Amino acid sequence: MKITVIGAGNVGATTAQLLANKELANEIYLIDILEGIPEGKALDMYESMPIMESDSKVYGSNSYEITKDSDIVIQTAGLARKPGMSRDDLLVANANIVSACINEAIKYSPNAYYIIVSNPLDVMTYVSLKLTKLPRTKVFGMAGILDTARYRSFISMELGVSMQDIQALILGGHGDTMVPLPRYTTVAGIPVTDLIPKERLDEIVKRTAGGGGEIVKYLKTGSAYYAPAAAVVQMVESIVYNQRRILPCSVLLDGEYGYNDVVVGVPVVLGKNGIEKIIELKLNDEEKALLKISCDHVAVTIKEAMELINK
Ligand code: LAC
Repeated sequence: MKITVIGAGNVGATTAQLLANKELANEIYLIDILEGIPEGKALDMYESMPIMESDSKVYGSNSYEITKDSDIVIQTAGLARKPGMSRDDLLVANANIVSACINEAIKYSPNAYYIIVSNPLDVMTYVSLKLTKLPRTKVFGMAGILDTARYRSFISMELGVSMQDIQALILGGHGDTMVPLPRYTTVAGIPVTDLIPKERLDEIVKRTAGGGGEIVKYLKTGSAYYAPAAAVVQMVESIVYNQRRILPCSVLLDGEYGYNDVVVGVPVVLGKNGIEKIIELKLNDEEKALLKISCDHVAVTIKEAMELINK
């Protein structure tokens, strides 16, 4: 197993470190345009492996040549939000950065799985799909696991019970229009709606939708990275070990949920063949209406991004 992480910033470096600590690949390549940073961080990680009891080897470079024939490529490069910015405000800068990175990576790894992490997430996943010309089973985005992890954490805080017992699902775009589904949220099999009153649950849902912004507000100079990196690693694990976990991932819809040619988060089965199945839930009218708002919003931003790319 050979994994490339593009972007040696907070999300990329933390992802590479977690992958290496868990020995999810024999070789991990950290790529960045900044001089010395990928080499320095990679060597530092390499040197931590004897202590971590892992035989993953981490290498850094400015050049994509060493990434040749990667099995998985994780795209994290791009600007992060500053306080007051929405993910969509990153569109112009990140559309350029992501296309430059993906165009390089695909030259060397035409058969890899591509996990997209740069924001605005769903749009950057769409852009990457078009640039790689790979099928949607091989190019998908990380967001739903992160959003769901935030939601699960908040429910666990509220109830004072183990996070392990909280099962939940979030649909839609990775942004303020995300669609948490209390109807599909259970605590050890008990519907969450039996345990938390509606008004309080609405507040938790709202906090979840603004969860990324809450971290940006504290950090001021950037956005979250521990939870995003952990979410990417869960996706990699499901592919590498063919776990076939059901996870919310951003994927191109082709008729599912009544939408075409738009990337949003939906539950999928993730295994050694990438996205092996998209699971279609029977949504009620309210959930359908929320998903529509989310898909419409992402579709407009996708159009803008494609105009930028094709210019
Ligand atoms: C977040 C950013 C990284 O949700 O999208 O934290």
